[in-house]
Amino acid sequence: MGLLIGKQIILGVTGSIAAYKAAELTRLLGKSGAHIRVTMTQGAQAFVTPMTFQALSGNPVHTALLDEQAEAGMGHIELARWADTVVVAPASANFLARLAHGMADDLLSTLCLTTDAPIMVAPAMNQQMWHNHQTRININHLTQSGIAVMGPASGEQACGSIGPGRMLEPEELLSIIGNSFSRHTLSGLKVMVTAGATREAIDIARYISNRSSGKMGFALATAAREAGAEVTLIAGPVSLNTPEGVSRINIETAEQMGQAVLNQIASQDILIGSAAVADYVPASPYKGKIKKTHDNLTIELSAGIDIMQEVGQLHNKPFTVGFAAETENIDAHAQDKMRRKNMDMIAANNVGLSDRGFEADENAIDVYWDDGRKTLPLASKDKIARQLVALIGDRYRMTVSRHSGNQRPAT
Ligand SMILES: Cc1cc2nc3c(=O)[nH]c(=O)nc-3n(C[C@H](O)[C@H](O)[C@H](O)COP(=O)(O)O)c2cc1C
Repeated sequence: MGLLIGKQIILGVTGSIAAYKAAELTRLLGKSGAHIRVTMTQGAQAFVTPMTFQALSGNPVHTALLDEQAEAGMGHIELARWADTVVVAPASANFLARLAHGMADDLLSTLCLTTDAPIMVAPAMNQQMWHNHQTRININHLTQSGIAVMGPASGEQACGSIGPGRMLEPEELLSIIGNSFSRHTLSGLKVMVTAGATREAIDIARYISNRSSGKMGFALATAAREAGAEVTLIAGPVSLNTPEGVSRINIETAEQMGQAVLNQIASQDILIGSAAVADYVPASPYKGKIKKTHDNLTIELSAGIDIMQEVGQLHNKPFTVGFAAETENIDAHAQDKMRRKNMDMIAANNVGLSDRGFEADENAIDVYWDDGRKTLPLASKDKIARQLVALIGDRYRMTVSRHSGNQRPAT
């Protein structure tokens, strides 16, 4: 299933007789292109050995919370951040009870409390346990908390009784997990993404540019495509491969990026402006190559095109999402920029920190809209992009329904 390629999945295995089926699920997930890290409760290890999962997942199995060595490797916080999804299969009655009550007394339960990734559980238990009044309360509570409960199936059980409580078969779980990544939140929509830096000529050999690598924008184009959108990516000079299924237009200068955006903006539903467009450009680039004949050289710069501002002034503008690269007073500057440029959302990142933002593989952003905000904590740019695209989908639909009757959210 293509939807699972590259997805980072924590598979939690708990103490159920169905634990052996988790081995097959691990194999199927791996075969589908997912990266898997298995976490086992102590109960689970009474049924299957960690060695089995280590061999099938190709990664060490995580079993202990209060273990200095394990924490020094990939600790529980890092694991929780790493995950695109946490799948607990099989999920014992005991584990579901602990999850429903917010317990954090072993590695798996602590991970579930720490992660902001979706959690999916596949209950497996004797039918009496499944029907038990307290289990019913726990399951209802988990469902209401947004945790996806897969199954269980009904049928003959290991204990000989017949009824609901059998864990779904690994193939069924694989299909549900895969489909959970295909929330086509932007299906039928046209999304334009700008990415990377621009280059502004000083003369024919030299230019002014900035440190934007384009990674965030390319990750956003990928995430928007995965969410079902028709994506146009307008990219500055970056060395990144075009995401599958995305139309790419290469540009060099801010002016060219502006033209490329404005040429197609009328047909777009959403514009995500993640490119680092030059604010100032050489006022009159030298036609040839400037000779080194003087001790000082002054280059006059003038303000370049402000693409988001231009789009913000359009009568029938699309839903616009801007980026703010800030180093201080991040909240205030980002919100001010959003209002001045008539954007619908803005994602602010602190480019003053070395572990995120420009050139880094990770990012952390604060997203603002007219009456709300959400923090997306430090994670890979791919993960941040998927979270941001999901948020954009939600906000877009809300804005459109507020202006129902309009084709576009004319803000
Ligand atoms: C042979 C055997 C089979 C078990 N099968 C299940 C089961 O399928 N589902 C379940 O919820 N508990 C089952 N249990 C009970 C759990 O293993 C027990 O509640 C344990 O504390 C679960 O720990 P954990 O949730 O931390 O993994 C079984 C126990 C034994 C001895």
